[in-house]
Amino acid sequence: MVRPLPPILRAVWPAGAVDPPPDAQAAIDRAVEVLGRGGLVAIPTETVYGLAADALDAEAVAGIFRAKGRPATNPIIVHVADVAMARELAAAWPPAAAAIAARFWPGPVTVVVPRGPRIPDIVTAGGPTVALRCPDHRLARRLIAAAGVPLAAPSANRSEAVSPTTPHHVLESLGNRIDLILDGGPCRAGIESTVIDCTVSPPRILRPGPLSQAAIEAAVGESVARPEAAGSAGPARSPGQQPRHYAPRTPLDLRGDAAAHVAALLESGKRVGWLTSRTDDSEVRRLAASRSLVIVPMPAGSAEFASRLYATLHALDQRQLDRIVVDEPPVDEDWRAVRDRLTRAAASR
Ligand code: TXA
Ligand code: MG
Repeated sequence: MVRPLPPILRAVWPAGAVDPPPDAQAAIDRAVEVLGRGGLVAIPTETVYGLAADALDAEAVAGIFRAKGRPATNPIIVHVADVAMARELAAAWPPAAAAIAARFWPGPVTVVVPRGPRIPDIVTAGGPTVALRCPDHRLARRLIAAAGVPLAAPSANRSEAVSPTTPHHVLESLGNRIDLILDGGPCRAGIESTVIDCTVSPPRILRPGPLSQAAIEAAVGESVARPEAAGSAGPARSPGQQPRHYAPRTPLDLRGDAAAHVAALLESGKRVGWLTSRTDDSEVRRLAASRSLVIVPMPAGSAEFASRLYATLHALDQRQLDRIVVDEPPVDEDWRAVRDRLTRAAASR
């Protein structure tokens, strides 16, 4: 069945105004109506755009898996409007989850807790736990409250592709597979939430993200287990955390010797895109003269780098390059989440 492209409805309002203006409210109403009949709506969050369906409607959630081409073994995060809604969906509310939610919600951290009876099997891939998050985006929380149900929402991209940080990225990746896109502007954090398993002691980080291990430890008052390095084997890995994930179509190389690598690629006639923070470097300036090279200057700070990373990869994917090269980030706690995403993006096909 060929479906039309989904409408993109803009729904933003000034920080000072509590309530959305009529056009934004109309967009929210339309989204509520689509969700109510089991449809799929792409929504902004502060991390990346999500592909939302009514989390309590197993048929609707099945539509998310179909649209993304997502393996049924990969559970989905459920988005809530507040802590009260989260607690209604959990069979228990562990102290670590309570501490994290109290300190960081709404925000870019997801807690994995024992699953309550209202959550359908398909959401958790049949598992005994559910992942819950309250997003720091007014439009997302308004929509959840207006719909009156929690929203299951993985990132709004085809499985294994780079997550979207603008409505346009969603349209490119999922196009006529979904019903509606809500435009709440570009995402601020730019990478997916930190996921933390609160059903084990000590709690364990399953996916590094915008919120650091140190910040989480300060909130829960105990040390938490580190995420495993991307690509490592081990039973505790989060389901769905395959080594290759978040990958652009163009092959990506993560290199400590990026300048030499780029020079060699150019020498062999390749067209190269290079993400680098070292734009003052004389070697970089020398290579910049090549017409086969697109240099993308990247911020030197990890949060700013993360905020721009996916949009940069989406843009370079449009340029018919043979290779994307990225400078190896510092081996530093601040860079853990960026390093994780880049390592996965570079994992061989
Ligand atoms: O920032 C985000 O978290 C975005 C926005 C849209 O909220 N969502 C997102 O969803 O990244 P997704 O589906 O692309 O990633 C969900 C991650 C996967 O790594 C999955 O394995 C893990 O969360 N996950 C979900 N439910 C889980 C569970 N019950 N136990 C362990 N891991 C779980
Ligand atoms: Mg994803």
